[in-house]
Order: sequence, then C-alpha cells, then structure tokens
Amino acid sequence: MKNGLEDVIAAETQLSDVDGERGRLVIRGVSLDDLVPGETYEGVAASLLDGLMERPVTATTLRSLLGAARVDLYSHITRLDEGLLALPPVDAMRAMIARLGDGQDLDTALHLMAAPAVFLPAILRLQAGQRPVTPDESLSQSADILRMLTDRMPSAEQTAALDAYLVTISDHGLNASTFASRVVASTQAGLTSSVLAAIGALKGPLHGGAPGPVLDMLDAIGTEANAHAWLTDALDRGERLMGFGHRIYRVRDPRADALKNALSPLVRSGQVDRERMALAASVERAALAILKERKPDRPLDVNVEFYTALLLEALGFERQAFTGVFAIGRTVGWIAHAREQALNGRLIRPRSIYTGPLPKVA
Ligand code: COA
Repeated sequence: MKNGLEDVIAAETQLSDVDGERGRLVIRGVSLDDLVPGETYEGVAASLLDGLMERPVTATTLRSLLGAARVDLYSHITRLDEGLLALPPVDAMRAMIARLGDGQDLDTALHLMAAPAVFLPAILRLQAGQRPVTPDESLSQSADILRMLTDRMPSAEQTAALDAYLVTISDHGLNASTFASRVVASTQAGLTSSVLAAIGALKGPLHGGAPGPVLDMLDAIGTEANAHAWLTDALDRGERLMGFGHRIYRVRDPRADALKNALSPLVRSGQVDRERMALAASVERAALAILKERKPDRPLDVNVEFYTALLLEALGFERQAFTGVFAIGRTVGWIAHAREQALNGRLIRPRSIYTGPLPKVA
C-alpha cells in the first residue's frame, strides 16, 4: 500500500545525493562517474568524514590509521566461537562488532571501519576450515581484505576492482540502513550503536541482501538460451527479478555501470569467467525487455546488485558473504551520516497514522 511517506524529508545532508530521474549519484560534490575508476576506499572515506570528526584525516593518514586498527582488531578473532561460526557470515560479523566499545570519536570510527574488513575474511576462512590470515598494516584496506580472504597478494586489477566497489557503495543518500544509522545517532547514542542498527537494516533482500540471489538466479537459468523462458516463468509466479528495480532510480542505476566498468580489466586479463559474463549480459538484456513489456508504466532497470554479484564472485567471495562486503564499504557512509546527525540534527521522531479501533465512548 502506498502512503506517500516516501516523499517525507527526514534529514538534510551534505554527504551524497541520489538523482533518480537523471541517474546520477553525487558524493561530496563529485559525480560517481568521476570517482570510479581511480578513487581509493581511503580517498572517499576521508572525503566523507571531512569536518565531522574531532581531527581532520587525509587519504594517506587514513590508510595508516586503518592499517593499525586492523592489526588491533585481529586480537578479537580468537573470540570467534562455534556458536558464532554457525551463523551466516553477516550475523557473525555483526555479533563481533557488537563487542566493540561505543563512542563518537575518530578512534571508534576507525575501529568500526576496520572491523568488518578484518572479521569477515576471518569468519569465511574459519567456516571453510582454514586458518585466518593476520592483517598487513602496510597495505591499503582493499588489498589487505583480499589478502586476508585468500592468503595471497591480490593482483593490481583485483585491488582496483574492490576499491571501485567500496567507493561505489560508500554512500547513497537516505537508504534504509543509513536512515537506521541516523535514527540511532539522533538519540546521541554512539557510532557502534548506529552501525549495528544499520547492519540489521542492510541484510534484508530488498536492500543489501539481493546480490546473492542474483547469482542463484544466474545458476538456475544456466544457459543463455534459457534466459527468456526462465525469467518469464519467474514473473508468472509473481516473483521479483533480483538486481532490477529501485525505489529512487527511474533510469539505469549509475552504480551498475561503475561496477560493470570496474569488471572490464578483470575480464580483459582473464581473471573472470567469460562464460559467466556472457550469461549475465544475456539475462540482463532479456530481463529488461520482459520488464518493459510487463510493466510499461513503471521504468525498471538494472540496479547496483546485479554487477555487485558478478564483481564479488570474480574476486573470490562466496555469495553468503556479499552482504558483509557491502557493510565493509557502507560503514563509512553510516558513520558520516551518524556524525552529521549527532552534530547538526534533532531527535528523529516521526508520527504514525493510527488506523486501529478507538475506545468506546461510555
Ligand atoms: N522484478 C519484477 N517486478 C518488479 C521488480 C523486480 N525486480 N521491482 C519492482 N517490480 C514491480 C512491482 O512488482 C510493482 O508492480 P505492481 O505495481 O504491479 O505491483 C512495481 O514494479 C513497483 O514496485 P514497488 O514495490 O513500488 O517498487 P519499490 O520501489 O518498492 O521496490 C525494490 C524497489 C528495489 C524493493 C524492488 O525493485 C525489488 O524488489 N527489486 C528486487 C530486489 C533488488 O534487486 N534489491 C536491490 C535494490 S538496490
């Protein structure tokens, strides 16, 4: 049921703007097209945090501060017990982050940004029966994540692709998880509380949980020839096609193309399964054609999750881990929004429309 609440302005922000009609994402005044490729995770993180913490950080200082925070956090890995390892990776990661202290300062922010980067690879390795890999503080966050995941130094193309992903998803207006972060921050709770609330909102399949199902869909389709029939059947069953549609974008999600371009160097250098890419391209073409035919009044195009799935798979992440990798990139956005809210905002307290029964008048 539509209730018009999506049009309510819930926050003012200087962090990012999503223009759904033009298909443009602006982060701190710069269009995503000008950030990717080229910008690093540390670069976009420094820009998002600019003016919001008790002392300034540059991309260079952030690189070494995050390196030190990763090393510091590694001591927590010994606390990953059987109970936590039996959970889906994003839930185990959230539980580990819940152990961190709360606060509003840069040190808390750095530990929160480094925590998913250290915890997720360790959780995945332990779940696969492998030994976790200690962080290397001299590396960039992206290179170290891939190294901790695979126990090998990543190629330059792989590191650049993960940087492109983390930059692309670093912030995106007032999406559900960012709103959750701001609501908690508006009570003047600490950054850890905000980030935990945001992770809870992120994991649902209508938000950050879609890319795993995108791969399930590609696996079920199997061959290019089967794409049209499979997609038609899925829509006939009333299902939604994962990786398509968006609440704000009425045109192509600009993040989809940023990630598609980020995949190109991996494709050219043979570091991606070419058949998989060809299947994905066929599925995308077929889905767009069928959605246009079925929903002529509702422009539905590809969204960020479609290419997220292909990129993260190419980098060696298993699909269960995708939401956790999303959290690695988005945490800095959640923190920046929480700080902006705590510094400039008021308590967020929307009103509901009561539609239940009223007490009988005597
Ligand atoms: N596949 C098929 N139909 C879709 C669709 C999809 N991916 N996305 C939207 N639609 C249809 C809806 O069924 C609805 O049709 P109806 O009016 O006949 O009932 C219409 O388009 C509008 O849908 P609505 O629910 O208003 O869109 P929304 O703004 O609430 O939904 C999403 C946005 C992202 C939740 C939705 O597009 C979706 O579920 N996509 C798949 C999951 C996904 O990729 N999530 C990641 C988002 S980045």
